[in-house]
Amino acid sequence: MADTTRPFNFSAGPAILPQEVLERAAEAVTALRLGGHQPDAPSIGLSLLEVSHRGGPYQAVHDRAIELAHSVLNIPEDTHQILLLPGGASMQFVMVPTNLSRPGRPASFVDTGAWSSKAIAEARHFGEVRVLGSSSDSKFDHIPPVNWADAAGSSFLHITTNNTIYGTEYEDLPHAPEGVPLVVDASSHIGSRPMALERAALGYAGAQKNLGCSGLCLVFLRRDLIDDPEAPASPKFLKYATHANANSLFNTPNSFGVLVLKLVLEWIEARGGVEAMARLNNEKSELLYETLDNSSLFAAHARAGHRSRMTIPFTLNGAPEAERDALTARFLTEANDLGFQGLKGHRSVGGCRASMYNAFPVEGARALTSFMREFERRA
Ligand SMILES: Cc1ncc(COP(=O)(O)O)c(C=O)c1O
Repeated sequence: MADTTRPFNFSAGPAILPQEVLERAAEAVTALRLGGHQPDAPSIGLSLLEVSHRGGPYQAVHDRAIELAHSVLNIPEDTHQILLLPGGASMQFVMVPTNLSRPGRPASFVDTGAWSSKAIAEARHFGEVRVLGSSSDSKFDHIPPVNWADAAGSSFLHITTNNTIYGTEYEDLPHAPEGVPLVVDASSHIGSRPMALERAALGYAGAQKNLGCSGLCLVFLRRDLIDDPEAPASPKFLKYATHANANSLFNTPNSFGVLVLKLVLEWIEARGGVEAMARLNNEKSELLYETLDNSSLFAAHARAGHRSRMTIPFTLNGAPEAERDALTARFLTEANDLGFQGLKGHRSVGGCRASMYNAFPVEGARALTSFMREFERRA
């Protein structure tokens, strides 16, 4: 059910969260309940924010969040371990090469936009980087074709599976060549649909889009990579083994972020899991793409066949160039006045961006598209 008292929140991240998750998280800030903040369990009389991460009440939250991440996101427990780490997804740009780079072997990347470029820049500190494909020449409006066999011999192969700024998305995870760990940054679409995440040797997602709040990163990695004797020497904190061997409690965790993750995963599960999320996300994104493709004013940035169902940048490129900026500003102001918030596009694409994560209601997509058609008639 849409909550009509709130604006439609199209923010790219931090992003919309389910209302009931917000309410239950607020309640836990006042008084945590036993059993991982189960709805009918007695309150412990203390806030989640003021109890030890080593005590039972928090541990139940922590363990349940990890258990749910395996089951809801289909990350097999026998092959992969889940870590809940600080530093957001950006920290993984550093931790991935810290742990996976190997002397004499290049790291392979596909450059699909700003976030992969940042990951590439960090990896260069650790050795040679090979860029197997890039769509930078066309403003990252598609996923470039890549011959995956070109990654053979690499220390790892890294892709950004949903490109938050440019609105492109890998339909499927590739198979990396034998012996090459596939690494995926799935920050902006994890949990949005069934994905073959088990194909990734290592995956990560900043939580502030589909999984909860900022400052927490969900990482999953193949168990054989955790204590790989070939891993280069590095500071203890940056080693996956340090966190894996301490069940992500090596240092004081972001306990609030972990609670919100748990509540979000319970919310997804109760609604029918990632399959149900996919049906809604398809419906929302199809409504918007259909409007964009049938418009002579609005245009999607990403090419058909490469389009994200989560993050949809679009422009008013049908307007004469001289009027475009003013018309875009007018569209955004009117949209904002009507309660469509967070639609301003990222500066590198310009125009607008509608991020419609799991918690975003179908009603919001219907309302936006009907406003867009009405705006176009008047423009
Ligand atoms: C695909 C992708 N990777 C990485 C990041 C960086 O995440 P964080 O700010 O949590 O470090 C973002 C943030 O939006 C993102 O969209």
